[in-house]
Amino acid sequence: MIHAARTDEKITDKKDFLAIADFSADEIKDFLELAKKIKAKRVMGEPYTPLAGKTLGMIFEKPSTRTRVSFEAGMLQLGGHALFLSSQDLQIGRGETIADTARVLSRYLDGIMIRTFNHETLEVLAKNAEIPVINGLTDLNHPCQALADLLTIHEIKGELEGLKMAYIGDGNNMAHSLMAACAKMGIHFSLACPKGYKPNEELVLSAAKEAAKNGTELVVTDDPVSAVKDADIIYSDVWTSMGQEEENEIRLKHFKDFQINQDLTQHAKKDYIFMHCLPAHRGEEATAEVIDGEHSVIFHQAENRLHAQKAILVDLLK
Ligand code: CP
Ligand code: NVA
Repeated sequence: MIHAARTDEKITDKKDFLAIADFSADEIKDFLELAKKIKAKRVMGEPYTPLAGKTLGMIFEKPSTRTRVSFEAGMLQLGGHALFLSSQDLQIGRGETIADTARVLSRYLDGIMIRTFNHETLEVLAKNAEIPVINGLTDLNHPCQALADLLTIHEIKGELEGLKMAYIGDGNNMAHSLMAACAKMGIHFSLACPKGYKPNEELVLSAAKEAAKNGTELVVTDDPVSAVKDADIIYSDVWTSMGQEEENEIRLKHFKDFQINQDLTQHAKKDYIFMHCLPAHRGEEATAEVIDGEHSVIFHQAENRLHAQKAILVDLLK
């Protein structure tokens, strides 16, 4: 685990991408527009290399398939370069502070993406780095995934406002980012989780304020059927997140009534889409029938990580 030494001083005015809640609806729309343009260029085979000569450092304290590969491929496609930096191999693994690491890396790189445990580690890194910092997942949130998911929903449904998302499962990092994204973009959001696995209260309160401003509903319940009722989107994530492996067995018991299966999906709209940030565990949070079924858009989502993150990279690093 990385030990953060606090400094409260913000060094430069650079832009970070730490949480969905930090951005306005218009700024999110701008990211989505840019992502669509960048995606279209790739589909047309048109080179687009605005980040030529730029280097992104990618610090990983947890495993990753999508985040690592999409950021690395994305930087390359934008004309730049990405460095994979395992926290085990950096001196932070031997006690160098995250603040010093931020200052040093700022002298070599043009941006840093980090996947870590404590959200505070990300914040200290961002405060001390003179270059943009991107959140590649913390225990608190996963904003890159949520932005890519908004892109997927918009592409498939043609709109965001007025839709309903039902999130069934743990009140975790994914739930927090989706809740913020939905509240911001006018999507009704219903979360069903077992008692004891509710999302962070402070984040629920601030998302609820945003939802009220936009006239959308934000509901936290322990009843999956009511959450899924008339949903346009059913969203799923693992029951045991990275770092919680010791709780796996007890979580399997606590979450057993929160599986997304054909019975539950009957309550959604006929044309609902099934989403999952992946990796998925068939037979746990959702059945194989649902994960691989005709409503599932999980690989479309995975692809959009690439396009959405390229938009973030261009906006922050150009
Ligand atoms: N969804 C997601 O972030 O996947 P990885 O853990 O593989 O990066
Ligand atoms: N909640 C999951 C998301 C993985 C992308 C985790 O943190 O492991």
